[in-house]
Amino acid sequence: MAAPDRTSAGSLAGKVAVVTGGASGIGRATAFLFAEEGAAVTVADVDAVQAQQTVQTIIDRGSRALYVRTDVTSDEACQNAITRTIEEFSYLDVLFNNAGIIHRTSVPNTAEADWDRVMAVNVKGVYLMSKYAIPVMARGGSIINTGSGWGLVGGHDAAPYCASKGAVVQLTRAMAIDHGAQGLRVNCVCPGDTDTPLLAQEAEQLGINEQTFRAQAAVRPIGRVGRPDDVARAVLYLASEASEFVTGATLVVDGGGLAGQAP
Ligand SMILES: NC(=O)c1ccc[n+]([C@@H]2O[C@H](COP(=O)([O-])OP(=O)(O)OC[C@H]3O[C@@H](n4cnc5c(N)ncnc54)[C@H](O)[C@@H]3O)[C@@H](O)[C@H]2O)c1
Repeated sequence: MAAPDRTSAGSLAGKVAVVTGGASGIGRATAFLFAEEGAAVTVADVDAVQAQQTVQTIIDRGSRALYVRTDVTSDEACQNAITRTIEEFSYLDVLFNNAGIIHRTSVPNTAEADWDRVMAVNVKGVYLMSKYAIPVMARGGSIINTGSGWGLVGGHDAAPYCASKGAVVQLTRAMAIDHGAQGLRVNCVCPGDTDTPLLAQEAEQLGINEQTFRAQAAVRPIGRVGRPDDVARAVLYLASEASEFVTGATLVVDGGGLAGQAP
């Protein structure tokens, strides 16, 4: 039996989206949700095996998807991801700049190579993907960058990561100003601790037992860490016309973690 055509209904019906970091965690959940909502999705990621799984799942569910191996720190790779998307799907409407890495160290304990790597993936990657996407987003559209609660407040032993996510918040605002007139909105989603492989990496980098780390991370008004779907639904809002008057904004999705001190 032919798979149902899911591209004619939903809040992203007929749209084309690129999701960086779509092989895992928040990116994968968002790629699935975008596809469910009618978008054709390009998954741009360095992890070929997991990214292919994301793409195959979307196709098996009756939507269109493409994998383009992409290291977002490479100018050439970013250009290729956008070019391949246009070749395959003709348009680009939504770019989710989500690929990111964590590095938990203070300034004196940060090796220069680690500093450069975090800034390259988390910040330069947003710049490079956007550089090639913006000129082809001819129908207008939406760019969503993944910041972090730690783009808005500081955190301990996370200097390069905090610096990179603060830069993403400001880059978002600058892009929103430059491209509003061409019908392009640019916003930032700022997740709190979310249950993805990145969370386990954090615990490992800090030398903390993963269960202990998760329990500590759950101490927030909603009383749990985030799920990738929590963030994906916020990203869908920013991608869709439901947010047509929202640009340059930071949307915090953290179960109240940044809301303030509990008594
Ligand atoms: N999980 C959290 O607690 C949390 C909190 C705040 C912000 N974030 C941010 O959310 C985003 C997604 O993280 P996640 O938690 O889903 O992590 P994740 O590790 O599950 O996924 C990250 C993805 O990015 C990909 N990636 C890494 N380097 C890349 C590169 N150079 N080029 C292309 N792809 C690359 C990985 O292969 C992976 O698929 C990141 O920007 C992260 O900083 C996560």
